[in-house]
Amino acid sequence: MKRIGILTSGGDAPGMNAAVRAVTKTAIHNGLGVVGIRYGYAGLVAGDFVTLTAENVDHLISSGGTFLYSARYPEFAQKEVQEKGVEQLKKHDIDTVIVIGGDGSYHGALALTRLGINSIGLPGTIDNDIPCTDYTIGLDTACTTAMQAIDKIRDTASSHHRVFIVNVMGRNCGDIAMRVGLASGADAIVVPERSYDVKEIAKTLQSGFADGKDHGIIVLAEGVMDAADFKTELLQYGDFDARASVIGHMQRGGSPTVTDRINATKMGNYAVKLLLAGKGGLAVGMKGGQLETHDILDLFEETHDSEEALIDINEEMTK
Ligand code: ADP
Ligand code: F6P
Ligand code: MG
Repeated sequence: MKRIGILTSGGDAPGMNAAVRAVTKTAIHNGLGVVGIRYGYAGLVAGDFVTLTAENVDHLISSGGTFLYSARYPEFAQKEVQEKGVEQLKKHDIDTVIVIGGDGSYHGALALTRLGINSIGLPGTIDNDIPCTDYTIGLDTACTTAMQAIDKIRDTASSHHRVFIVNVMGRNCGDIAMRVGLASGADAIVVPERSYDVKEIAKTLQSGFADGKDHGIIVLAEGVMDAADFKTELLQYGDFDARASVIGHMQRGGSPTVTDRINATKMGNYAVKLLLAGKGGLAVGMKGGQLETHDILDLFEETHDSEEALIDINEEMTK
């Protein structure tokens, strides 16, 4: 093995930089060179490469976003384009690649492996929508940011006896909503994975106000609908004041939490060890806190298992 190339792809996520740092430091410790590939697969094909040193990744443990930048580059699904990428890698003496991204990015890692460049995928997305893992890099920071925002929303909700419907991110996956809903003591958690009854939610809120409760919080996954539309539906069944709020892209930014820093570091370190062992075409995941690997190909056959029990626990604490 000569040099490892590393790229970030798809939506950025807090902790991606910590993973790049861990890969770089572990590789250098093992006598390997590391090359940062900027702008995901677009930069791979264009040869936009930067040599990484222990010094220039040192500060990355605490920074959000991805300093390697990301790009959408659908052209990489074409074999001729993938081959151009492989030529660039060979020209720069890079014989292995680590990809940090979501399911789309994993397709690229598998393609590279099939073309002779052993590649490993690390799950980097706030959405937690990747099969065979119960954690993705960035999830914890995004949830913490959304939870802190809802803590602030609760202050104003209570002061005015209002119900807030808060949209959180996650694309089609309800994991952020489930975690944030439980962590912020929501009165209802609405996610794409579960059916819901607006009338029932309105009834619960109404009786809560009648019993002296001074506010209501509904955490709504963006994959279900917009908070504004949900508010319109809800107010057909309840007589209270309501506001819709969208937390938005702030969930994607910020300094990673302890959990994201540690898990990103563990995963980056592990990915280098897999490459050193001659492995490729694998996705790193985490189950019950333990690192695991799965064939990327298997991932495409599986669906992500959400921890829906979080909703049940929340409901058991709601009247
Ligand atoms: P994510 O990785 O978060 O799912 P995308 O679906 O946007 O994000 O994929 C990220 C990038 O991965 C794409 O812009 C493209 O460069 C690459 N990619 C996506 N699908 C494929 C594919 N079928 N084959 C090769 N590369 C792909
Ligand atoms: O995949 C991460 C994510 O932030 C989703 O939660 C959200 O639906 C989407 O990306 C937003 O995409 P964009 O940054 O293109 O607006
Ligand atoms: Mg995706």
